Amino acid sequence: MSNIIILGSQWGDEGKGKIVDLFSERFDIVARYQGGHNAGHTVFIGDKKFVLKLIPSGILRPGKKAVIGNGLVLDPAALLAEIETLESSGLDVKGNLAISNRAHVLFPAHRMMERLSEARPGRISIGTTSRGIGPCYEDKIARRGIRIADLLHREVFRPLFDGLMEEKVAIAKTFGIYEELDLTRTRDEYEAFAERIRPMVCDTALLLNQAIRSGKRVLFEGAQGTMLDIDHGTYPFVTSSSASAGGASTGTGVPPTRIDGVVGVSKAYITRVGGGPFPTEARDGAGEQIRRRGNEFGAVTGRPRRCGWFDAPLLRYTATINGFDSLVVTKLDVLDEFDAIQVCVGYRCSGTEIAEMPPLVADMEKVEPVYECLPGWKSATFGLTSYEQLPAAARDYLAFLESQTGVEIGSISTGPERNQTIVRSGSRLEKLLQ
Ligand code: IMP
Repeated sequence: MSNIIILGSQWGDEGKGKIVDLFSERFDIVARYQGGHNAGHTVFIGDKKFVLKLIPSGILRPGKKAVIGNGLVLDPAALLAEIETLESSGLDVKGNLAISNRAHVLFPAHRMMERLSEARPGRISIGTTSRGIGPCYEDKIARRGIRIADLLHREVFRPLFDGLMEEKVAIAKTFGIYEELDLTRTRDEYEAFAERIRPMVCDTALLLNQAIRSGKRVLFEGAQGTMLDIDHGTYPFVTSSSASAGGASTGTGVPPTRIDGVVGVSKAYITRVGGGPFPTEARDGAGEQIRRRGNEFGAVTGRPRRCGWFDAPLLRYTATINGFDSLVVTKLDVLDEFDAIQVCVGYRCSGTEIAEMPPLVADMEKVEPVYECLPGWKSATFGLTSYEQLPAAARDYLAFLESQTGVEIGSISTGPERNQTIVRSGSRLEKLLQ
């Protein structure tokens, strides 16, 4: 009875939403463990497109439970809007969603504070999603944050809210980023939100641990990707949460001893949205071709994604951090038309080969990728459902990625639909899913 983590092995947008939705069939509960409505997990079911930002992708399967863990930052307005959209498509969200009483509450003032780091002259702009995610986590770590449990107790919430907002207004005025906020109205709104979410709130750590003890299976759904992890990513060009496998435990309260496997999701190439180093970025026509064929535009912000070639050293690094048992490679079909496909197999920094991921952004910016060029397959892989159907050059490409990363490729996604997926028989992934 395996409980597994599925997470991004690159800079996010690897296609985790589809994979979590697909594999959630074999699990009882899908639990998100970090991030907030900065995530955008796109899932296609038939002719319907769903973009999930806060709610775990498992919600799309009738009868499955979805959990928003303590590691998230929650904008109740965004959550309620998402619930409404999903329920208008006929899904029972309220009956199947549990929200941690220890998750942190995100306020409009957090978005205002984001302008301090993003727009003030002299600051490094990260190119965030502007959702207030970082400032909300700042309050959490500074121990002045407001949790869902506080929100549900008016007598606790009011003084906390007033104190926090007083601070925000003072900082915003000092730094010239103040925008008129009607704080009384916001407080009333949040008190009203509290009543609407109250029936879904509980101690989700208890719920998950009890479920596991009774033999239920949990799938932990990561948001963003390992290279955006606050500790292990390309700091400071990262998000403010623990997107890597370790975050699944701290972000849900399920101990590592109850988690049996980690599955990484990777595109057949790589993308990044926002600022920061990106060694294999293809600034030429190839990058544009990938963007066009892969429709590489942000699900949350609509920003064009930066596109580039598969980066094996980066994947070796994220495999080490996460301990991947298996990889799911998505969007293979995007490479169908290329005559030749580059794969980065190593890094050079100032002319010297380096084995480690440079901790300094300045060094990471200078990294020169060492490429190997593989022949393209020049035929359609879109929608294929068995490994044997893949053209020989595509299989060689995947075998090359396996040899370079040291991780098996247990599954290949060949299109956005659930059934446009290959799960390789005899793989570790297949065993974890059993
Ligand atoms: P934040 O999470 O809004 O603070 O943004 C920090 C960085 O993470 C920026 O580079 C964002 O573009 C990136 N980011 C945040 N969420 C996602 C995501 O779901 N996919 C890809 N990049 C993301």
